[in-house]
Amino acid sequence: MITIHTIAELRAALSKERFKGKRIGFVPTMGNLHEGHLQLIDQAKSCSDIVVSSIFVNPLQFGAGEDLDNYPRTLLADQEKLASRGCNFLFAPTDAEVYPHGREAQTQVEVPVISDMYCGESRPGHFRGVSTVVCKLFGMVQPDVAIFGEKDFQQLMVIRRMTEDLSLPVEIQGAPIARNEHGLALSSRNGYLSPEELKTATVLNQTLRTTRDALLSGSKAFAELEEQAQNTLETAGFKRDYYKICRRSDLQAASEDDNAIVIVAAAYLGPARLIDNIQIDL
Ligand code: PAF
Repeated sequence: MITIHTIAELRAALSKERFKGKRIGFVPTMGNLHEGHLQLIDQAKSCSDIVVSSIFVNPLQFGAGEDLDNYPRTLLADQEKLASRGCNFLFAPTDAEVYPHGREAQTQVEVPVISDMYCGESRPGHFRGVSTVVCKLFGMVQPDVAIFGEKDFQQLMVIRRMTEDLSLPVEIQGAPIARNEHGLALSSRNGYLSPEELKTATVLNQTLRTTRDALLSGSKAFAELEEQAQNTLETAGFKRDYYKICRRSDLQAASEDDNAIVIVAAAYLGPARLIDNIQIDL
């Protein structure tokens, strides 16, 4: 695997591959890679000839008081992991390479409505930062296909919408959530949790599955189910963020006639904010 730090070198390397007719798959990340990221690489390999991953801890998507400074930067270990899964190129740019005029002067990409709900409400400006950097990375890599984890379900929807609205010639694929043996969704932020908190963290997915089972048994008492779930999480030691039974097409609150559902949840546990979701076809 070749590691590249500048846009000019990246373009030179990838234009050769494109000239040979190779299909380019892209997996953007912020590093500190775990098995979930590596499964995105596997998926990219299965649908493209050349796999490019990026590692860039994007300051634009972190709010004041969030974990930008402490976000784990583990480039050497990440390089080894990516190489072991057959990634061809790693693009690891500096802040100045991505935002040459500074962050304040950067043109931004804003996907309305969907960016303002749930995670967007708890983290104002977060999705503007995500859509801006992903749009820029798409311009740098010019991939044929890009893979994003379904754990960040709202992020995936924001990126799909941005790609469609800006007519970007990139196929967006979602990848199933990777979980540990207790059902906990793999996340770089799980590393912030103590062994005790890691055990408690599994309650998030258990709660989602309980709500799913109630919906599959025919319950339409959405508000009640959401409140029960929030209480279960609080009793286990979480602090509330959101827990919502949604229509999968646009993440609006589900109505009784909706069949394609996703339950999206975020909750604070100790130093971490955890998110998870579950999709249901009723
Ligand atoms: O999901 C992430 O790791 C980030 O939000 C992404 C898509 C790499 C953009 O910085």
